[in-house]
Amino acid sequence: MSHVLVIVLIGVRVLSGAAASVDESYCYSLDENRTQWEHFATRTAYEVVRGSSSSRDYFVADCIPTKYWLLARHGTRLHGAKYINFLPQSLNKLRDAILANNASRRMMCPDDLDLLRNWRWDSNMTTDYEGFLTESGWNELKNLATREKTRFGALFNGPYREDRFHFRYTNTQRTVASFWAFADGLFGDGAYVRVHAEGEPTRDTLLRPHFFCPDYDENKRKIRGPGSEQDKFMQSALFRRTVADISTRLGFPYNLTLDQIEDMWDHCRFEQAWYLPQLSPWCSVFTKEQVNVLEYKEDLRYYYQSGHGYARAADLACFTMADMMRHLGQAAGNPSVIAYFCHESIIQLFLVALGAKKDPNPLRSDNYEAMRKRQFRTSEWTPFAANVAVVRYQCNDVVSPVKIKFFLNEKGLMFDWCERVEVVLKEGRKFL
Ligand SMILES: *[C@@H]1O[C@H](CO)[C@@H](O)[C@H](O)[C@H]1NC(C)=O
Ligand SMILES: *[C@@H]1O[C@H](CO)[C@@H](O)[C@H](O)[C@H]1NC(C)=O
Ligand SMILES: *[C@@H]1O[C@H](CO)[C@@H](O)[C@H](O)[C@H]1NC(C)=O
Ligand SMILES: *[C@@H]1O[C@H](CO)[C@@H](O)[C@H](O)[C@H]1NC(C)=O
Repeated sequence: MSHVLVIVLIGVRVLSGAAASVDESYCYSLDENRTQWEHFATRTAYEVVRGSSSSRDYFVADCIPTKYWLLARHGTRLHGAKYINFLPQSLNKLRDAILANNASRRMMCPDDLDLLRNWRWDSNMTTDYEGFLTESGWNELKNLATREKTRFGALFNGPYREDRFHFRYTNTQRTVASFWAFADGLFGDGAYVRVHAEGEPTRDTLLRPHFFCPDYDENKRKIRGPGSEQDKFMQSALFRRTVADISTRLGFPYNLTLDQIEDMWDHCRFEQAWYLPQLSPWCSVFTKEQVNVLEYKEDLRYYYQSGHGYARAADLACFTMADMMRHLGQAAGNPSVIAYFCHESIIQLFLVALGAKKDPNPLRSDNYEAMRKRQFRTSEWTPFAANVAVVRYQCNDVVSPVKIKFFLNEKGLMFDWCERVEVVLKEGRKFL
């Protein structure tokens, strides 16, 4: 009998030890430093990851910018139709249950509970507006344009002329509106109505090459399915413990389902991006470390879908790469500004083709700890309004009169294959 008792006691100690590792006392409302905002994967707000406005990265001594090429993801958007249909009901139920868990819910602070208590689904958000660019998304693109105009004045200044500016977008409300916002940032409020942009051709291999690639679809199915790294991660002890910790902290005597966790995680990230810097109550249900685990789950999928973990990723970006090289290879002349408004996939594929931010080891289901400081982080690669800008400079320098500089989200991009921040372009030669 005493043998059994000892085992139970040890069991209790181990369990309480594990529970104590969760920062149960975490209070989102009172946190001055909400660093988890930077870890919302592809639903991260642009503001929290972009380079600083005062950065000197764009400045190259004795050089002037002569060509500007931009690949920009649409800004923050509303949920898709599928989510608008089921999220209100699911979240209302979760909110009521969390509030009713008074006896066991000892770990949420009163301020966070108040946030949840006052939360309502915005009844204006109907499927009529599914996926639409939000006001915050509009501002992301508009302010990006304003900053780029300040940085690369000579290229952007002067009135709009169709031959100087080449714009193009995919055929969705959020990318078209992102272009309008960008045009307004460059030419003044309301100016977009007279700015021309090219629409989406029948086969958009420039901005949506993966739409025409059976291998991409096949791979996409595989990497979400059973046995994939993402699937194995979600089955792992670490992930299951995270689900259990989230449930316990919210006062549930059972484990929430993956769908319930996903609903709160998705709405937290979207709502935070809509209303920054106001707080989304749904972000208060996760501690910072729980957000890191959820971010890794997202990254595992994208890494194998359109990141360095997909063997054909670089090939898929070849039309986009060729377009960039064709424009940047020209000394001067029009158009001098080329900007495309698109989606996360092509930006990830393009970064892979550039050989940017490559980790020495792949992301896997079993190396979460070792990959904490990884280069592949979708929060930094493709937040809302993510963009890659490539700038050609003409320099007063006999040895290298032409330099090319790459920027990701307004931060200078460094490559392993290039020692310098700028890439020296030898006229008439490939530089990649
Ligand atoms: C916020 O937290 C991050 C990560 O823990 C830390 O690097 C940073 O210094 C903190 N900032 C402030 C203002 O406390
Ligand atoms: C628990 O919460 C419910 C719902 O908010 C409330 O009606 C009830 O009075 C609370 N019970 C206790 C013991 O605080
Ligand atoms: C819904 O839209 C109406 C009209 O634009 C506005 O007055 C109201 O505040 C909106 N409701 C919410 C919850 O935002
Ligand atoms: C919740 O999940 C954890 C981790 O998988 C497990 O150890 C625990 O027994 C589950 N709790 C309940 C009540 O099922």
